[in-house]
Amino acid sequence: MPRLWLEFKKLEPNALNYSLRANVGGSWWNGAVTDPISQDPRARHAELVQEIEAHRAAYYERDQPTVSDAEYDALERELRELEAMHPELAEPDSPSHTVGGAVATGFASVRHRERMMSLDNAFDLKDVAAWLDRIEKGGGPRELVCEPKIDGLSISLTYEDGILTQGVTRGDGTTGEDVTANIKTIAGLTHRLDRERAPVPSIVEIRGEVYLPVAAFDELNTALAEEGKATYANPRNTAAGSLRQKDPKVTATRPLAITTYALGALEWGAAIPDPRAETQIGAYALLADWGLPVSDLTETHAGIAAIEGYLNRLEARRHSLVHEIDGAVLKVNDRAAQRLLGATSRAPRWALAYKFPPEEVTTRLEDIRVGVGRTGRVTPYGVMTPVTVAGSTVAFATLHNADEVRRKGVLIGDTVVLRKAGDVIPEIVTAVVAARTGTEREWIMPTSCPSCGTTLARQKEGDVDLRCPNAEKCRGQIVDRIGFIGSRGAFDIEVLGDKAAAALVEAGVLDDEGGLFDLTETDLKRVPLFTLDQDSKKDGVSRRAGDVSTNGLKLLENLEAAKARPLWRVLVALSIRHVGPTAARALASAFGSLDAIRAADEVTLSAVDGVGPVIARSVQEWFGVPWHARIVERWGAAGVRMVDERGDAGERTLEGLAIVVTGSLQGFSREGATEAIVARGGKASSSVSKNTDFVVVGENAGSKAAKAEELGVPILDEAGFTRLLENGPG
Ligand code: IVH
Repeated sequence: MPRLWLEFKKLEPNALNYSLRANVGGSWWNGAVTDPISQDPRARHAELVQEIEAHRAAYYERDQPTVSDAEYDALERELRELEAMHPELAEPDSPSHTVGGAVATGFASVRHRERMMSLDNAFDLKDVAAWLDRIEKGGGPRELVCEPKIDGLSISLTYEDGILTQGVTRGDGTTGEDVTANIKTIAGLTHRLDRERAPVPSIVEIRGEVYLPVAAFDELNTALAEEGKATYANPRNTAAGSLRQKDPKVTATRPLAITTYALGALEWGAAIPDPRAETQIGAYALLADWGLPVSDLTETHAGIAAIEGYLNRLEARRHSLVHEIDGAVLKVNDRAAQRLLGATSRAPRWALAYKFPPEEVTTRLEDIRVGVGRTGRVTPYGVMTPVTVAGSTVAFATLHNADEVRRKGVLIGDTVVLRKAGDVIPEIVTAVVAARTGTEREWIMPTSCPSCGTTLARQKEGDVDLRCPNAEKCRGQIVDRIGFIGSRGAFDIEVLGDKAAAALVEAGVLDDEGGLFDLTETDLKRVPLFTLDQDSKKDGVSRRAGDVSTNGLKLLENLEAAKARPLWRVLVALSIRHVGPTAARALASAFGSLDAIRAADEVTLSAVDGVGPVIARSVQEWFGVPWHARIVERWGAAGVRMVDERGDAGERTLEGLAIVVTGSLQGFSREGATEAIVARGGKASSSVSKNTDFVVVGENAGSKAAKAEELGVPILDEAGFTRLLENGPG
């Protein structure tokens, strides 16, 4: 009888969370549980308050967040829900009533003339609809100003008689830090309001968001990385850090920008008040006339349907904007109505922040391992406690190379920030240093191949990547090369992925990719992945355990079909370094056969449009290796066609047209669509510009569709695309 041993340990004195260790038959499992019975609301409340305050201090005072924004929002939400159920817990100084941020030492503290508030958050349309309802029931007007919620830090600017006299951070909302000298270094921030275009008040507080444009952030981080220095986690923290520099000269080197979006105290004095200040949208026109930057993404709408449309359009463009946004802000347009609606202790009732789903989360880095790829490159990757980010579950993320691990400063056991922006692959951004417990350990790049044990080496001096030089025999490389042959860019064989490749090598039916096209049913009977483990009957055909499975038969069929596919796919499938689909197409169309490519010298190869010296050298070197030549020979002997038949190219309906396909289409894989375009003389591009002729939009298309709309590029759906392929643009 197996024995089960459970060990619980309270994590903190007041906490409801316990760590759990279970010993099952001698091996230990680690986990965590929450005690649901003793959930004492007072204890949980105290715990939440403490946690929120600690996170606020880290975020606002040290510019070093300890949790992701989404996790922080969840804590605040839980606190508010708890206080709604137990109002006696809601003391006046609860974080639910206060604004995050405090006055850091080192800067003079300044009292705002009018309080700077935070915003209440909505996380879905239901929240927005409920808020709209409340406003309309209160007799509030329906017209709303919709604008981006810029992810930067808020600032209050004071202009006295039109002259910029003070720039102050939000601080606790009542008092902030005087960062006037730093603020004045921001290009595009006028120090003097333009009195030619609009009347200038005797005193006005103007609120806005200081941010670092995404492009500037990327540039800064690239430069830091090249110098081997630690990089910044995100534009927001970089902007906050830049603004808090003691020396304004340092701030001046950071290309900060500002967008203004609210008025605070306003005294016209002797000037005739500008009536535009009576609406929110009018105030933006006024700000613009004064010479201040305002958002060009602001629109006015009424009703939930129109607002939903705005939110969707904004989210689609999220990644093509100059600055990061984490949502939208909705504001009642009429400023008199704003005053009537008033505010709670921390946020106005007339405005609401709608938050997009988080793209940054934190998780635990359980381990760093290395894998060897098809070109022998050995890359470290993080193994993480699985988390959901931007809609998908992520457990692994590449760390690229050892330098990258060092630059990011991550340790095994660290809490790490994981980011997945748009359709970009997930990335470990940084470690949350403040969450370290002392049990984390440094990772050391291995010196030998994780698969075959051969000592790793750099191919040439100065390379960042370490490679396993045992390309011919290293099992990891062989498996990855075989799996790659089935990938979309090569022969596009769905059943031939990494798992199948590993199973074929494991079972000993393949030593390397040379024998792939010789595989027979007899071979596959030796591969458990491709055989039936019990008798079966399907479509009237009965088969026995041990027979080749449907997938196995499909593999053989697809391999047979692959033998007649175009030459460029053969070239890609050979895993020649630097030869991807684009170079392979160029080579195939210039030479027409593998023999001709092999026979060409470096000069001839590099003269081909789209090839160049690096690829030419790589191709030459590749054919010079005896075991490579043997693979080509075996494939040829098995019937793989290594010549393109000319003349069957079909009509060139798309000659000279640049076409972008985005989102997923029903009738074409991504590769298939590209192939169809190129075969008809068109160019398949990946990014939309003013030179793009058509954008084909499939399901779940992202920012490219929005970009096309913005640039006025014609947009086609799948049916339109099929017609374009057949008939050309006419
Ligand atoms: S209005 C009284 N508009 O979001 C209303 N805030 O989460 C004050 N923010 O503290 C804010 N973009 O730093 C407003 N278009 C926008 C904004 C915006 C970003 C920031 C601001 C505020 C925070 C609240």
